[in-house]
Amino acid sequence: MSTEPISAEQLGREAELVERVQRSFDRAPDARLKQLMQALVRHLHAFVGEVRLTEQEWNAAIRFLTEVGHITNDKRQEFILLSDILGISMQVVSVNNEAFENATEATVFGPFFIEGAPLIQNGEDMSFGAVGEPCWVVGSINDTSGAPVPGARIEVWEADEDGFYDAQYSDGRVAARAHLFSDEDGRYRFWGLTPTPYPIPHDGPVGGLLRAVRRSPMRASHLHFMVSAPGYRTLVTHIFVEGDEIGWADSVFGVKESLIREFAKHPVGAPTPDGRDLGDRGWSDVRFDIVLAPARIENEAAEQKLIP
Ligand code: BEZ
Ligand code: FE
Repeated sequence: MSTEPISAEQLGREAELVERVQRSFDRAPDARLKQLMQALVRHLHAFVGEVRLTEQEWNAAIRFLTEVGHITNDKRQEFILLSDILGISMQVVSVNNEAFENATEATVFGPFFIEGAPLIQNGEDMSFGAVGEPCWVVGSINDTSGAPVPGARIEVWEADEDGFYDAQYSDGRVAARAHLFSDEDGRYRFWGLTPTPYPIPHDGPVGGLLRAVRRSPMRASHLHFMVSAPGYRTLVTHIFVEGDEIGWADSVFGVKESLIREFAKHPVGAPTPDGRDLGDRGWSDVRFDIVLAPARIENEAAEQKLIP
């Protein structure tokens, strides 16, 4: 790569092109689309100029994106995976879930949520036979003033001990996913599985990119939550396991300090909180108290970003 300084004449030509391309969007009737396209052009051209992108590199990038497109179908979304490993998914989550008082932080949704998971009552088991160490999960749903939120819908889903979600098996099983509602005091409790690390799909072009840059496809151990209640901003988040072997190296940058929880381990035979007999299995327990932001935060943020 040349380290020669770039002449003023050359920089002027490059800047003139960026200007011209941006102006080509001036008459877009949709003001937001115009803003998005002009900013995209500015940033993409800045990238090309900064790294002095070669034609071979641009062709390689086009080949890569073509492969990402070819492997994508209605079951496999390699573009979202690319957005995930670049931290874009996480940044979009952050921008759209602005910090509000003590509201619980959001993190990536991931591809494994499925509508229509079974309803369980408080205290029941959402694992439905999925393999793994049982985990007693308890917590509360409150608003930012500390008032309980009864009747909040809580969706929970996770991978089994072998690192697979039910949807990744071809036998149509429904396991390690459910929904329940917070009780009249805003509390919830259920049996799940102690989360274990698992890789994001890495047999496609995104996996190839991770290997080329010596990055691991592993996700930090986590349990997914989506909590919704009328009048509150829907919270999509996970809890992560304190002391996890992957931890901050999470391949999709989902980990937040505020979402790391202690999963206390209990040996075989230790009495369980609800008296359930787990036979020859040990178990863990975790508390996750959730604070919901008001829905108006969502609306205000959306309104402020509208272009006049
Ligand atoms: C997940 O948590 O399930 C996930 C998130 C992003 C990419 C792949 C998987
Ligand atoms: Fe996950």
